Amino acid sequence: MEIKVYQNYEEMALHIAGYIADFVHRKPDALLCFPSGDTPSGVFKQLVVMDREGKVDFRHCTFVGLDEWVGLGRDDQGSCEGFMYDHLFVPLGIDESSIHFFDAKAADLRAECIRMDRLMEQKGPIDLMFLGIGMNGHLGLNEPGVDFASTSSVVQLDEVTRSVGQKYFQNQTRLERGITLGIKQIMDSRTVILGASGAKKANIVRQAVRGEVTNRVPGSILQRHGHSVVFLDREAAAGLEGTV
Ligand code: PGA
Repeated sequence: MEIKVYQNYEEMALHIAGYIADFVHRKPDALLCFPSGDTPSGVFKQLVVMDREGKVDFRHCTFVGLDEWVGLGRDDQGSCEGFMYDHLFVPLGIDESSIHFFDAKAADLRAECIRMDRLMEQKGPIDLMFLGIGMNGHLGLNEPGVDFASTSSVVQLDEVTRSVGQKYFQNQTRLERGITLGIKQIMDSRTVILGASGAKKANIVRQAVRGEVTNRVPGSILQRHGHSVVFLDREAAAGLEGTV
């Protein structure tokens, strides 16, 4: 696990975007999986600028959705899919045929997980998985207690995720379940990068990066990944002082 520390969020986001652009330059038809949320927003802004300047070309890439709130979809404010379209796919002009998301409004969510697992078997493994980390250590919506062997699944959301998740919504929203790629699919990815910024993430980052590998802190599993890179700003890296 490689750890890179930057002065602030903007610098971190710039370097994550640069890493992604270099990756896509080397593998133009990469299978990519990116998160929604606060962590990637500056990264996506930068990728859109780089695209306009002709410095990155995602035309031959395929995108897989990481997770979604059950009951929400692209047109719903606060949805992961809506965020990805608004901040990345539409500005980059990505063809819809290259984007594969969970349908979290499906009547049969179990079948939806099977559909995504099959897709991953056909198209996978993911070449570049970019993740944020939740305040409870979650990756995607793989909550504390997750089975590290899991593939796509419908999960009961942890209390922390239910309350922290409110930040994505204009109105108080009942968040009960999520649908997410599993830890196995994350760990099978050829390269995993994780970004975290701000003092509020320092404690969970320390647990994930330096603590015991345990499903109580899902992010700790990345210590076992052969090719993972953690991008932090100084505040998020504060708990690692003397060890980076
Ligand atoms: P954030 O979310 O980037 O909005 O902090 C991270 C996560 O919950 O995985």
